[in-house]
Amino acid sequence: MIKWSKPKIKEFQTTLLDWYDSNRRDLPWRRDHEPYHIWVSEIMLQQTQVNTVIPYYQRFMMVFPTVEKLANAPEEQLLKAWEGLGYYSRVRNMQRAAQQLLNDDDGQWPHTKAELQELVGIGPYTAGAIASIAFNQPEPAVDGNAFRVFSQLLEIDADITKPQTRSLFEEAIRKVMPTDRPGDFNQAIMDLGSSYMTAKNSDNEHSPVRKFNQAYLDGRLDEFPVRSKRLKPVDKQYFALVIETPSGFLFQQRAGNELLAKLWVFPLVDADQLKADQPELNTTTIIKAIEDQFASETEIQTELQFIDIPIVNHTFTHQKWHVTLLYANLQKQPDLSHFSGKVVPVEEFSTLAWPTVQKKLWQAFKKRQIQLF
Ligand code: ADE
Repeated sequence: MIKWSKPKIKEFQTTLLDWYDSNRRDLPWRRDHEPYHIWVSEIMLQQTQVNTVIPYYQRFMMVFPTVEKLANAPEEQLLKAWEGLGYYSRVRNMQRAAQQLLNDDDGQWPHTKAELQELVGIGPYTAGAIASIAFNQPEPAVDGNAFRVFSQLLEIDADITKPQTRSLFEEAIRKVMPTDRPGDFNQAIMDLGSSYMTAKNSDNEHSPVRKFNQAYLDGRLDEFPVRSKRLKPVDKQYFALVIETPSGFLFQQRAGNELLAKLWVFPLVDADQLKADQPELNTTTIIKAIEDQFASETEIQTELQFIDIPIVNHTFTHQKWHVTLLYANLQKQPDLSHFSGKVVPVEEFSTLAWPTVQKKLWQAFKKRQIQLF
């Protein structure tokens, strides 16, 4: 499939690596080749921009400097270190993988891509990144950036949303990858994908590899990568109950098997479910229905009221949440024996692991208080 001659491949490698040597980004996880450092950074970078990741990475390494520290961390501390990065299963899987490494492999990292993939949460991309960067194995690391860069360079027109396309790309990349510096090659591709060959506002005219970029030379950049349409996230409506008590606000811990597992949020009521169960509800009667539902689940009686703030929106990969805030002020401490949560004073909010949507809810609620007083 790849039509480049041997000398062209050699010239591409030299051009790319020379550019990388003079222009590589100075990133904290590039200061050594420790597999633990490469692993943590790659997991963080999977869904998050480099600039956001840097302070998280630095803090994470202070709190969990070794695989042992990560393996033995209490869950709350783990979630706290990840707070705001989202996709929390990433850090839970990392802890399980750390335990796996210590128990099954005496803490010794395997060097091959196949063995690395046996660790929880390490897929072909992360395994390729660790194998190449930490252990100098000539393995491709194909993430969204690499799909874009190589689909354009080589005009690969396979649909990148299909699982079988990955091996097709890996095969092509193996042919153009140098065996002596595979880790730098993969990182040069990452840097190219976030500088000249970006998804939006790319600058291929000034790219160091423009003369190797077939899609650019043919004026076909907008045709690559080929991607069948993604499904739109499903809209979900919720009510968030801001329940103030004499000693703080009521928080609920999400169940382990649902979105935002184990994180702390204001109690949420599924508005779609409520409206499906009681289709005749209107804006006046819905409040009573929410109070009744909350009371039947928790035995906590509330008198809720609408508050005058806009609906809070938050998009996850497969869901888009639209959250309406409701407020109640309880004069007495509620009995929490039927409630999967606790009362938390404002000064202690920072001890809870909050998902981003909860941060948005609190910000929105706080703004309303400022308007009031
Ligand atoms: N994106 C994904 N992995 C990366 C890395 N190691 N360096 C820079 N950007 C990245």
